[in-house]
Amino acid sequence: MIDGLLRRIAEFHRSRPVVPEFPMVAPVLEVLDNALCPAGIEPRFLPVVRHLDAVEPSGDAAIDAVLEELLRLAPVLPWRQTVGYLDVLSRDYLDNYGYVQLVGPNAIVEHPAVRVGIGLWGPHLHYPAHQHEAEELYHVLAGEPSFSGCDGAILATRPGDAVHHPPWQVHSQDFGATPTVLLYCWTGAVGPDAILVQAG
Ligand SMILES: [Fe+2]
Repeated sequence: MIDGLLRRIAEFHRSRPVVPEFPMVAPVLEVLDNALCPAGIEPRFLPVVRHLDAVEPSGDAAIDAVLEELLRLAPVLPWRQTVGYLDVLSRDYLDNYGYVQLVGPNAIVEHPAVRVGIGLWGPHLHYPAHQHEAEELYHVLAGEPSFSGCDGAILATRPGDAVHHPPWQVHSQDFGATPTVLLYCWTGAVGPDAILVQAG
């Protein structure tokens, strides 16, 4: 059922001007190309899914192919949230955030060393500083999020932009006026989830 979505994500990565854009994309593509997708998936709805109604095509064919398939499948996908955030982040944040883990430990396609998924955030949310051992590559598919790294620099992004985080880099995001859709991949220590970093 998600075969087409995984194929379009692989095609998106191969559409970038430099392939692999980052070395970690090579093993991700290997996994995407060889993924064995289950026939059936147990859907799990989250309130954030409503924001997909306001997602606009980007004009980039490879991005829009992924978005089109995401929108088609959204009602039957298992939307989830990071368990460690549930008792910490606000009700407003939790009502406007969620992701689908397509590949990874305990994901739709089980894999011990690679995570691939798509996250969705409503307008004007602030994702507090967090970190994880895994190496991470984000691609903006929709929205205009700003990313902050540990050096305090703020990176404004738009659809098609890539943001790379080495292991344990502290990062935070501020989401723009329209819903944000981020494609992510993790490699390395992909088992542990992200954890929030306390200020001060
Ligand atoms: Fe991250």
